[in-house]
Formats: sequence, C-alpha cells, structure tokens
Amino acid sequence: MVKSVLTSHSKPFPGCFSDIMARVILISMLALCGSTVQAYEYGPSPRPSDQQLTVFADSTPNGTIGLLTLSSGKPVEVHETVGLNDNLIRNLYFLDSLTHLARERIPERFVHGKGSGAFGYFEVTHDVTGVCKAKFLSEIGKTTPVAVRFSSTGGERGTPDTTPDIRGLAIKFYTEEGNFDIVALNTPAFVIKDPVLFPSFVHAIKRNPTSNIRDENSRLDFLTLRPEDRNFMLTLYSDRATPASFREMFAFAIHTYQVENEDGVPSFVRFTFLPDLGNRNMNASEAARLAGEDPDYLTRDLFDNIANGNYPSWTAYLQILSLEDVKNAGFDVFDVTKILPEHQFPLHPYGRFVLNQNPINFFAEVEQLAFSPGNLVPGILGAPDDMFAARIFSYRDAHNYRLGPNVNKIAVNSPMNEVHTYLRDGRSPVNDNEDNAPNYFPNSFHGALPRVDDQKSKLIVVLQNDDGSIEQARDYLLPTFTPEEQESIPRNLARFMRPVVDFIRKRVIEIFEVIDPYIAQKIVEQLQEQ
Ligand code: HEM
Ligand SMILES: *[C@@H]1O[C@H](CO)[C@@H](O)[C@H](O)[C@H]1NC(C)=O
Ligand SMILES: *[C@@H]1O[C@H](CO)[C@@H](O)[C@H](O)[C@H]1NC(C)=O
Repeated sequence: MVKSVLTSHSKPFPGCFSDIMARVILISMLALCGSTVQAYEYGPSPRPSDQQLTVFADSTPNGTIGLLTLSSGKPVEVHETVGLNDNLIRNLYFLDSLTHLARERIPERFVHGKGSGAFGYFEVTHDVTGVCKAKFLSEIGKTTPVAVRFSSTGGERGTPDTTPDIRGLAIKFYTEEGNFDIVALNTPAFVIKDPVLFPSFVHAIKRNPTSNIRDENSRLDFLTLRPEDRNFMLTLYSDRATPASFREMFAFAIHTYQVENEDGVPSFVRFTFLPDLGNRNMNASEAARLAGEDPDYLTRDLFDNIANGNYPSWTAYLQILSLEDVKNAGFDVFDVTKILPEHQFPLHPYGRFVLNQNPINFFAEVEQLAFSPGNLVPGILGAPDDMFAARIFSYRDAHNYRLGPNVNKIAVNSPMNEVHTYLRDGRSPVNDNEDNAPNYFPNSFHGALPRVDDQKSKLIVVLQNDDGSIEQARDYLLPTFTPEEQESIPRNLARFMRPVVDFIRKRVIEIFEVIDPYIAQKIVEQLQEQ
C-alpha cells in the first residue's frame, strides 16, 4: 500500500537552472497581466534552504502552476488583487485571504514547540525475533517508512535552535500493523518519575508568570529540590544541551518497555539510537553567536544536508533484560530517572534509520505530526511504569486540543494499513467518515470485528520507589561524558547561575560536591570570577 504523503516526497530536485526562455515567457506573462509580482532571480547562496522558491519555479518550466481561484473555485479577476478604491467587502479574494489569515495558527505544542522534521526509512539489520514479534522487525533487510521530528523542550515555535535545552527526537514507524511511535530525548534519564510533578516541571522551565522571561531561579529551584533528576541535570547543563546538529545527536526512549516474542515470552527493552556521525556538541559561546546570527541554524542544517544528499542515519540498539534480570538488577529498571548501565546491559544493534526526504509542506507534515507513546503495535506492550501510563493519556489529550479528535485522519498521522473503527464525525478531517459502514458495535450487519487476542503475556505490575539518582550520575553517567563535556558542566552552570539566589546556588554546589568535587570547585571559582 502506498502512503500518499510520503511518496509525494519523491519529486526530483532539478539541478539545472538554465531555462532562460521559460523565464522570459514568465516575465512577459507577468507584464501582460499588469501584475506587480517581481520575476524571480537566482540568488548567490548555494544553500538549498535559500533556493526553495527557485527550485519550485524550475519544476514548472511552462510558467504559472495555474489560474488563481477563490477557495470555492471561482477564478479571481485581476482587478480583485488590487484593493485600492474598491468595495472591499464585495472583494471575495480579499475576504477569502484576510479571514483565513486570522485562522492560520493552531495551538503550538505546550512543550517541544520548536521543531524540524524529516522522512526516511528504518531497516532491520539483526534478528531480534527471539525477543519481539512486531512484524516490522520480522526479517533482516525489511524496511519501514518513518517520520522523525527533532525539537527542543522548553522553547516556543520561534525560539532560537541553539538555546541550550534537552532535545527531542520522535520517530513514527508506519508499520503494516499500525503506527509505532518512539518519543525519545537526548538524555538517557528523565527529570522526574512521578507524573504528578510534570505540570510543575513544565512551569518551572517555562516563562516566569510576571516577567514573561525564562527564569533560572525557578528551573534550578525545581531541579535541586528533586533528588531523582541528577542524571538529567548532567545532560541539561553540559554542552549536550547544544548539539552541533540534529544529525549528531543521541536519542533515548528511556522507558523500559515490555515486549514479547511469538511464544508470548516477555522481555524488557530500552530503545536507544546512536547517530552514525557520532555525537557532537557546540560550546556555549558558539551557541550564543548562532542564536543571534542564524536562529534556525539546526533546522537549516538538517534541511540543507538532506537536500544535498547527505542523509543522516542512526543505528538502533536494544538493551535486553529477562524477567530474572529485572528482579536481579539491584535497582528499579523501570525508573525513568535511572540509566541502565551499559556494562550491565550491553547495547544490541538491530537496525538503522535513514532520513532522506525533507517535508514538502512544513505545517501539513511536521506541525501536524502527532506522536504518542500510546501508539504501539502487537508485540510491544509499552512500559509498566506510572510515567508511561500518564504519557499515554497526556499526548492523546494534547492532540485532541491541538489537532482535534480526528488527528489520525490527518495524512501524516494516518497509518499505512487498512483502518476500520466505530469513530464517526467531529472536526475535520473526516475524509470518507467510513462511508456507509455500521457505526455501532456489536452489530449484526458485517461491521468490523476484533481479532482473537494476539497478545500472550500480560503487562507486569511494578511498585515504584522514590529514591534519588545521585550515585548513578556519579558512578555511571558522568564517566561516559567526554572530558570536554565534563568541563562544559561547571562553565555552563556558572553562567546559568548568575541570576540565581544564594540558597539555590548552595544547593547546586552541594549536589556537585557529591557527584564530582572538581566540578563543584570549578562552579565556585567561576561564580567568584563573575
Ligand atoms: C509524565 C511525563 C510526560 C508527559 C505528561 C509528557 C507530555 C507531553 C506532551 C503532552 C507533549 C506534546 C505532544 C503534542 O502536542 O503533540 C510532549 C512532547 C514530547 N515529549 Fe513528553 N511528556 C512526558 C515525558 C516525556 C519523556 C519521558 C520523554 C522522552 C523519553 C518525552 C519526550 C517528548 C518529546 C520528544 C516530545 C515532542 C514530540 C514531537 O516532536 O512532537 N516526554 N510530551
Ligand atoms: C509544458 O508545455 C509543453 C508544450 O505545451 C507540454 O508538452 C508539457 O507537458 C508541459 N509541461 C508541464 C510540466 O506542464
Ligand atoms: C567554542 O567553539 C568555537 C567554534 O568551534 C571555538 O572557536 C571556540 O574557541 C570555543 N570556545 C571555547 C571556550 O572552547
């Protein structure tokens, strides 16, 4: 089955800019219409992100793509495109465009508001059918289309890309058994393990309610009050918070998922993706420079590299635990504030994904992309911890608000396989609204039927504790940071701590005295130098 929104990406990029005749015709047509539109000129920049319009023009060598019409279809008369001295209310072209303009915005994601997207494919490279029966993993060499969105966490749609932040990398696999979403971050551990704290965490990292400025007092206050977030703090305050590009960024799904094989034997896995280019960061001064000079630097880098054929790729790994491993791990492996140390649970490669297509329409294909940890496929049961349960609810709730109840009928979110539901009507898109099929269940008139249960294992029940993560940060995570990354932590922290009150500064220093006294000492020195 062909997915229209994905295949529409296969338009070739014309490399040749030489159709002078076509340009002459275009210019003379514009002159004949008396239009004020300027003919395009090729700019000097070699960047594909600067050439989008010229590339489009080259793809229509015969001139205009067609007659301008109202949204209702009636051709627009050229006099309607000039408003002066006209009765504007009767100018339907004016009404059509002005009223639509006021409705162009939809709510932005309340977290991860700024993002970039790309499309490509996932390919299986190693056999993991022993642990997971999901069909998209069933055969070495098998490929599945994917959509990926990169984001920062705390900013808004217009925030500069290089503002230091935890980064998101969300993947939608369009499998033959429905969409499977992995909604990952570039930190191997999350900030909290109790979902009740999530709204407050978001408020603490967002704008101050009075100054409307992001306030490091609230962020560091919250972070230093929560003993479980030390692993998270290491990533946030190191230069990993400013990746050199989206192409060179880790992605951790964090949660330990329960999966099962054909026989119903459960295993427990963490999904991790390592960039084939390696992880690379930029330092704070470089990031600050770019935030001013090219606020969309990471977006542009991704777009230009894909347009130029430098397709970024990631190797996909699983850390695999048996039920026995879960019991004997010595800590709660379902705790999202904990990492699973690699010496204890090695990374098993099983696939890779490659991004080889830019979006053609950003709003349709990236702003409307909707990921949810609840989008699971047979063989992948989800994670048994409380955060995962909260996320299943929260992303759906956010999509209902942001995109409406028919979110999965939006082309970029709709699965590749055939869908039959008893959902009907509601805010568009409804598409065919399932035509004339029965709209209630059960029914006696050949409506869709569920299959006999395919899942053999049951999601296990876990009891969670509220212990901290400082030993892990000290013993396992910090040692995996490069020397430069370790050096970046006191430098960045001291800068962030400039406006922070004394008692919160003291807490930060006390925390780092346990994680690494050298870092604590450096923070103190750098604060004194300021
Ligand atoms: C209780 C915990 C959490 C809640 C309630 C929560 C909720 C949300 C919501 C509502 C969104 C916006 C969705 C949208 O509008 O499309 C979002 C975005 C996101 N979240 Fe979470 N989240 C939680 C924890 C996490 C964790 C643990 C991770 C990663 C392991 C994560 C990664 C992301 C990413 C990458 C996005 C951006 C997705 C995109 O690109 O569209 N979140 N989160
Ligand atoms: C351009 O015009 C020529 C001649 O009329 C026609 O054969 C061709 O299909 C047109 N190309 C496009 C892309 O419309
Ligand atoms: C930061 O990176 C830039 C560009 O790579 C480099 O020129 C500069 O020396 C670096 N600054 C520090 C403090 O390391």
